[in-house]
Amino acid sequence: MRLLNHIGRLYTATAQGVLEDAALVIEGERIAWVGPAAPGPPEEVRLHIDGEVGCGGALVTPGLIDAHTHPVYAGDRMAEIARRSAGASYTEIAAMGGGIGATVAATRQASARELRVLVVERLGAWLRGGTTTVEAKTGYHLEREGELDALSILAELGLDPALPRVEPTFLGAHAVPPGKAPESFIDEVVTWCAPAAAAGARFCDVFCDEGYFSVPQSRKVLAAGRRAGLVPRIHADELAHSGGSMLAAEVGAQSADHLLYADGDDARALAEANVVATLAPGTALAMGRMPPAHTFLGAGVTVALGTDHNPGTCGATSMSLVIALAVAAFGLSVDEALTAATAGGARSLGLKDRGAVEAGKLADLVVWDAEHEGAFAWSYGLAPLKVLLGGRTAGR
Ligand code: NIG
Ligand code: FE
Repeated sequence: MRLLNHIGRLYTATAQGVLEDAALVIEGERIAWVGPAAPGPPEEVRLHIDGEVGCGGALVTPGLIDAHTHPVYAGDRMAEIARRSAGASYTEIAAMGGGIGATVAATRQASARELRVLVVERLGAWLRGGTTTVEAKTGYHLEREGELDALSILAELGLDPALPRVEPTFLGAHAVPPGKAPESFIDEVVTWCAPAAAAGARFCDVFCDEGYFSVPQSRKVLAAGRRAGLVPRIHADELAHSGGSMLAAEVGAQSADHLLYADGDDARALAEANVVATLAPGTALAMGRMPPAHTFLGAGVTVALGTDHNPGTCGATSMSLVIALAVAAFGLSVDEALTAATAGGARSLGLKDRGAVEAGKLADLVVWDAEHEGAFAWSYGLAPLKVLLGGRTAGR
């Protein structure tokens, strides 16, 4: 057992709140004891401690959880992003051959080995920034083999002890690929759900929005995913008020994401159906519209946060930046944003073993270069001093 000592503030993300002058004991990959640094762990625990790490009075939180990312792609769309900044809309750019279709073309050109290298680099950046669990979607091949390869890459890398844990999501229905009709493409995607589950997917997602997939088409994919054992999550109401939140509530999705156009009725439906609202401030800022974060919290919806790292709207891998943006742009308190990035993320991913500091949880922990959690809102990218993944110092 090892003692993590001299924690100035321990943000537990539980009803315990923040513990000052705290310590914790790690046994194997789990937290065994949490409490005050003085007097420290009880005698029967202390007897088994054979190592000690001092935190020098720093802030410690659970490892951050990024509940929405798209990391499996090649190429970039910087020219399109510059055009968007000058006034072209996301939908106009997509209609002109940019958008998801442009990344699909570049990604299909890359070999599985090349993609793997890109994903390793990206996942490494997440971990260095203090994110220990990353939800990661496919969706830039939009053909069977490529989608399945992407899932295999994600499932394999998620087991690499030098990279964050990964929760793979099958997003075959991300866009209609060139030369296909939406209905027949949906029928194809339906047949990929079982192999996607076999390749390591836990979730099935769909881009349910104007110009992408309709509510009935999305319902069809999510039902097929469910039959294959995949838990539904949805890109909902991001580009228009198109019914994604209500579908999420109807099918009992684990999460509805983005929600820039969701309203009070949507919030009540999500709360009723116990669907988590996963919000992505980087993309909200890129799209120029904010989700009704306080409406969700007021209705009793659990909020989670994601970078939405993707080649079109947001390249961030830093969840500490996302926390700062959630405070600045959504008006969340530091406490609400930090809870969303830890316990909220765990709920968004249906994981009970992480996202909080208490005995029994995984020892995924971050020692921050700060003494108080307020630093997240000030730093715009607060850096870790040390990241622990399953009790071990993380990184290559
Ligand atoms: O989450 N909404 C769909 N997918 C991404 C954007 C993907 C892209 O532009 O490549 C999103 O915003
Ligand atoms: Fe997304």
